Amino acid sequence: MASNIVVVTGASGYIGCHIVSNLLSRGRHVRATVRDSSDPDRVAHLEALEIRQGGSLEIVEMDLFDGDSVNKAIAGAEEVIHTAAAVMIMSSNPQLKIVDPSVIGTQNIVAAIDNSDTVRCLIHTSSTAAIRPTKWKNGTTLTSETWADDATLENNPYGLAKVSSERIVRNWHSQKSVESRKRLVTIHPCMVFGPPMSTRHLRGSLALMMSVLRREMPVVLPMQINVVDVRDVAEAHVKALTEGEDGGRYLVTAGDVSMKEMAKLLISQYPDMNLPSFELPYSLALIAAIFHPKISVSWARNHLKKKIFWDSTPAVNDLGMDWILPPDSILAAADRVIENDWVKTLND
Ligand SMILES: NC(=O)c1ccc[n+]([C@@H]2O[C@H](COP(=O)([O-])OP(=O)(O)OC[C@H]3O[C@@H](n4cnc5c(N)ncnc54)[C@H](OP(=O)(O)O)[C@@H]3O)[C@@H](O)[C@H]2O)c1
Repeated sequence: MASNIVVVTGASGYIGCHIVSNLLSRGRHVRATVRDSSDPDRVAHLEALEIRQGGSLEIVEMDLFDGDSVNKAIAGAEEVIHTAAAVMIMSSNPQLKIVDPSVIGTQNIVAAIDNSDTVRCLIHTSSTAAIRPTKWKNGTTLTSETWADDATLENNPYGLAKVSSERIVRNWHSQKSVESRKRLVTIHPCMVFGPPMSTRHLRGSLALMMSVLRREMPVVLPMQINVVDVRDVAEAHVKALTEGEDGGRYLVTAGDVSMKEMAKLLISQYPDMNLPSFELPYSLALIAAIFHPKISVSWARNHLKKKIFWDSTPAVNDLGMDWILPPDSILAAADRVIENDWVKTLND
């Protein structure tokens, strides 16, 4: 068996596969976990990744709800990067579909690390959603000192999932003695853009851009989008294996654009696509939210026509990050979609 194995959970996912790619380009031995290794949509993009000499890729099946599969995935590894989670903001059963994968899954991850005597480091993918309270003041700048502790199953199930799973890893870390505990760093991306590797990556943070490219609505929403590039998110996770503070909580955010600015950028790149850029007035946007299948009125009230900023200087200072700018991330995502003819692709 290869030594110095780094496990990446959720490796089929948008962020996970870029972390795997980053590690393989450094010649690392990567154990990538997926739920279904027979599904080409989950593994073909991993199998196509370039591996620098000396590196290797092992793809294993793991479900966060199945403790035995988590134990097997982590056994013998030296480092764990835990990205797997359900990434959605609404569900008819938010406890089962959004919160449980994060909470039960993360409990199983730390238990598996305790069961193994080889792991020395856990990098946990958290989110700005674990930091931003459900209600915030327009124009505020948040740091990693803040917690989204007011998130509930009813008002913010995704925030609750991210806060709860982060509390699990932090309690696990702080309850152990300094000598016996593993290195822990949490990484907190805002909305992630940059090149998708599979059509499965179009459903999460890229859904907003896809709604413009697909002309799902004749208008755009009056909203600000905080952007970070998926390649920078991957780099931050990999850097955090060795750099930054033990217990560090790093925001990874590059800047912000309005949805209108994003649409205008896409129009300038693809002038023949007849894309929308007219910004819906706030009052009409609230009415539209009543009928929209993926957003709620409370979400619209909390997010539209408001701005929030993030202090990601600790990631620059401690992890040496140098951000790809939002327009470059948005165009890199859109170019990949257009090149692959994915505009009309619909996912479950
Ligand atoms: N994208 C963003 O804007 C963003 C921003 C901040 C934080 N994050 C965080 O970053 C992480 C990755 O997000 P992403 O954007 O890469 O999402 P993604 O593309 O949906 O990837 C999520 C991954 O988690 C796996 N997963 C879900 N449920 C699982 C389960 N029960 N057992 C095992 N694996 C499971 C998925 O596997 P399948 O392929 O089998 O579904 C997938 O590989 C998440 O923790 C998310 O909260 C994302």
